[in-house]
Amino acid sequence: MSRTLVLVVVAALLSETWGVPLSSGSSPRAPNHFPDGFYLGAATAAYQIEGGWNEDGKGESIWDHTLHAQPNLTSDGQNGDVAADSYHKYKEDVKLLVGLNANVYRFSLSWPRILPTGDTDNINQAGIDYYNNLINELLANGIQPMVTLYHWDLPQELQKLGGWPNAVIADYFVEFARIAFENFGDRVSRVGITLNIDWYEPVTSSADDAEASDRQLQFECGLWAHPIFSREGDFPEVVKLRVAANSRKEGRTRSRLPTLSPAEVNLIRGTADFFGINHYSFSLATSGSSGSEPSKTYDSGVVTSVFDGYPNSFWISDIPWGLRKLLNWLHKSYPGYPFFITENGWSDPPGVLNDTARIHYYRGYLSALLRSINDDGVPVIGYTAWSLLDNLEWMSGYTIKFGLYSVDYDGPERPRTAKASVPVMAQIYKEKAVPLEDFENADTTPPS
Ligand code: BGC
Repeated sequence: MSRTLVLVVVAALLSETWGVPLSSGSSPRAPNHFPDGFYLGAATAAYQIEGGWNEDGKGESIWDHTLHAQPNLTSDGQNGDVAADSYHKYKEDVKLLVGLNANVYRFSLSWPRILPTGDTDNINQAGIDYYNNLINELLANGIQPMVTLYHWDLPQELQKLGGWPNAVIADYFVEFARIAFENFGDRVSRVGITLNIDWYEPVTSSADDAEASDRQLQFECGLWAHPIFSREGDFPEVVKLRVAANSRKEGRTRSRLPTLSPAEVNLIRGTADFFGINHYSFSLATSGSSGSEPSKTYDSGVVTSVFDGYPNSFWISDIPWGLRKLLNWLHKSYPGYPFFITENGWSDPPGVLNDTARIHYYRGYLSALLRSINDDGVPVIGYTAWSLLDNLEWMSGYTIKFGLYSVDYDGPERPRTAKASVPVMAQIYKEKAVPLEDFENADTTPPS
């Protein structure tokens, strides 16, 4: 699955306290402290943790269907049938959040658990009950629920209609969202969108590389964010121009990028209350040709590479100042919107309980986040670490671990164990601050 094509819509099931103070409050705050009311917690997604894939009337999702039909698609041949069994263990998972001193939990609704066929003529009350129970359990423990409406598990019955490329799916999604709001809406106040965005540092200080970096961000983020969050709306100019030029070269009479009418531009602009960001990593960017023709990568005309000299795990580079640069770029591009870091995390191979690399990553990224808020004035209102639990990492199955808590996938009860990162994060979340020494030692400023 392309990491750049991810579009996750989130609804925050939150009280009016969502409107927390943003950057500087009335009293001065130490630079290693988060603002009052800042949200700190953890995130998960339904298919990755719930299991109970066909229980209590749940319908089949595209992931259930695909991994049953083609088990070899995941690196270990595993699927999410049971996963971390959070469908049954949600109360225990809320306790894990309490152990972290989290005040927010971001989880997703399984669409086919609520609408087994995607159609509103069949609403699965057991699915609604499950999420209501989870939400109530969170609230009873002082944790704000933050709900992702769609984290990639489309009902298979809707895939039979062609899935997302068929525009009619948008109508089904609206109906699903309406049902979610009707059932959980007494606790819903804001709606936003989450995008996956890494930072792309120009390879050299040349103007050409600076343009390549900006172009990459426009293709990865602006394509989705510009229509919603920019003052003028519509797709970014550079994206429109390059896709149109490549379309002409391919002998097409019109651009592969749809043209939005002025009415559509107006309709889309400003339709989110906050901007959610999933940020994990960092790459270098320079101009050049890559990707097959036609493709978004080809259209961007950017070649990306790994920046050596920093800790690296799978596809993630631990370079905290990348987050700071990204937040500044986003704030400059889309002023007036609060940001929420909806995902940020480090992956280990299986069996690492003393997860020192994860601790290093989180101390660094939380420090960079603090610099962005306190030194640079970027309005960020919350942060949810990915992930609460080791879970099904899509095509990598259970071979890559993102959890703060480990899950023993050989145990039928799926026992959870805190990794070394848990007390570290619990202290940061409790104090609402990164310890000063860690904060000062973190890589939050680009090397000169
Ligand atoms: C996705 C998660 C995934 C994580 C790590 C995120 O962008 O939302 O579902 O587990 O990346 O790959």
